[in-house]
Amino acid sequence: MFRFVFNALYPYVKPYKVKVFGAIFLSFVLAGVGAMNMRLLKPIFESGLNPESSQDEIISLALILLGLGLINFPARFFHFYWIRFIVDKATCELRENIFKKLQYLPTSFFTKNKQGTMVSSILNDAHIFSNGFRACVDLLREPLKALAYLGMALYYDWQLTLVVVVITPFLIGIFNVSGKKVKNNQSHVQEDQAELTHNISEGIAGHKLSKAFNLQEFIINRFRKAQDKFFNSQMRTTFVEEMAHPFVEVVGTVAFSLVIIFAYFRMKDGLTVGEFIGFVGSLALLMDPIRKFSQANVKLSQAKAAGERIFKVLDLEEERSSGEKITSHLHKGIEVRDLSFSYGENQVLNSLSLDIPKGKKVALVGLSGSGKSTLINLLLGLYDVDRGTIKIDGKDINDINLKSLRDLYGLVSQDIFLFHDSIEENLKLGERFTDEQIKNSLAVSYADEYINQLPEGMRTVIGDRGARLSGGQQQRITIARAFLQNNDILLFDEATSALDNESEKIVQKAMESISGNKTVVAVAHRLTTIQNYDIIYVFKEGRVVQSGTHSELLSIDGEYKKLYELSSD
Ligand SMILES: Nc1ncnc2c1ncn2[C@@H]1O[C@H](COP(=O)(O)OP(=O)(O)O)[C@@H](O)[C@H]1O
Ligand SMILES: [Mg+2]
Repeated sequence: MFRFVFNALYPYVKPYKVKVFGAIFLSFVLAGVGAMNMRLLKPIFESGLNPESSQDEIISLALILLGLGLINFPARFFHFYWIRFIVDKATCELRENIFKKLQYLPTSFFTKNKQGTMVSSILNDAHIFSNGFRACVDLLREPLKALAYLGMALYYDWQLTLVVVVITPFLIGIFNVSGKKVKNNQSHVQEDQAELTHNISEGIAGHKLSKAFNLQEFIINRFRKAQDKFFNSQMRTTFVEEMAHPFVEVVGTVAFSLVIIFAYFRMKDGLTVGEFIGFVGSLALLMDPIRKFSQANVKLSQAKAAGERIFKVLDLEEERSSGEKITSHLHKGIEVRDLSFSYGENQVLNSLSLDIPKGKKVALVGLSGSGKSTLINLLLGLYDVDRGTIKIDGKDINDINLKSLRDLYGLVSQDIFLFHDSIEENLKLGERFTDEQIKNSLAVSYADEYINQLPEGMRTVIGDRGARLSGGQQQRITIARAFLQNNDILLFDEATSALDNESEKIVQKAMESISGNKTVVAVAHRLTTIQNYDIIYVFKEGRVVQSGTHSELLSIDGEYKKLYELSSD
């Protein structure tokens, strides 16, 4: 366990070698100071509190105490400060690594895992795992302190110490049993906490739906259930931990009664009061390191569990970064041949073939679930193609570097994603564009009119996912964004399906206006919007069942005609 945490933490702690060794060295100093303090109890009680002592004796005693205090102050400060510094630094580094990893994991990971679990892993597990470093230092410092106090107790009276040593196994036993129980329960605590986090983020994300369907009660109940579960698993830990304390105290009391009896005989043999107090003091302080040592063991096992969860994610395979880099321009077109695809169980695309020639406007139509978005996902390289081929200018998509592949496309989809930032920053996305270019992009996408009416214009900060703007207004910003990024192929996946008629018309106009002579692949849910497209592919159950222009397709009795009649009813 120690080795796992140590090895896994090593790279995160390594940059702070000096502080690590400093903290370790100071453990010895702290244990030494502790022992010296105990050593002073005897002279304090025998010379210090004695009217017959000389002034010099008293002053030197006071000076030694002061000296110890002066050593203790910086030692304690730097020891614990450095530990926390290292733990928090390692946490930051680890969080960044997890976050980075998530950015590069394949799309399939996100459909299989809960958001709450991911957030919880970034926030909590990273910290719990890094705290393993603190536990490692505790596992060194506390035994040192224990040895120092035990040494002092032996120094004062070894026979009395033996009496007490007899009860130490009981103490260790209690600490071990409770530690194990806590540890076993801890994975439930973590799971329930992740579940709660997930519930909270779901509740916040669904705030509109919650109101619209009067679901507040339902959502609060779900939250309450998750929270109760978390509370109960936490209470199991609390019960064990709190139960251990009185047990330890009982054992302590038994020990102390024994000590009193034996001390009576020892004093007859010449044990002084000063020595007895020194002995009892050392013994009392010995409890603390034993307790902390076993707590450190629990922390270490928690760190191990958190570390295992973290490394399960960190060790996942990322999207491929290999492949040939292509230019960001389409020269001939895209060729899809015999493409079959499944997300898991059901076949979603069945031997699908189609062409997207450069500069043409291509529409994909078909009933919901017929595989249109899936094709878009595959064109974007979000999933690997394993049966059939997609060729971009003759190159197999599996051999193309994903970053350069995605540079080909501008995507406007039904899911509008905007950052919580100004409109301007949402358009720039970290790149440099002049104000002129931005204004132009807003004009082309018919967004300038309403943006100019906002008091702060394009510097207006839009809420989470753009909540301060209407759906149509948000969508026009994403269209302006696509225009500004100026990619060769525009992918529109039901970009207007969430909008009302009025907004739909203007967003439609915006899409046409940025299309120019680009290659366009549009998934359309309303067939009136694609009547002037060059090629329309009709999807049914993962195949293309018809293709042609609007008038060609309407002239024959077929799937397209059915769809057309359905949508114009
Ligand atoms: N991430 C996914 N995991 C599993 N199945 C999916 C996933 N996305 C879509 N599907 C399934 O694939 C089929 C095609 O979906 P999709 O391509 O989105 O259809 P369309 O865009 O034509 O409405 C549907 O049956 C859908 O349930
Ligand atoms: Mg779709």
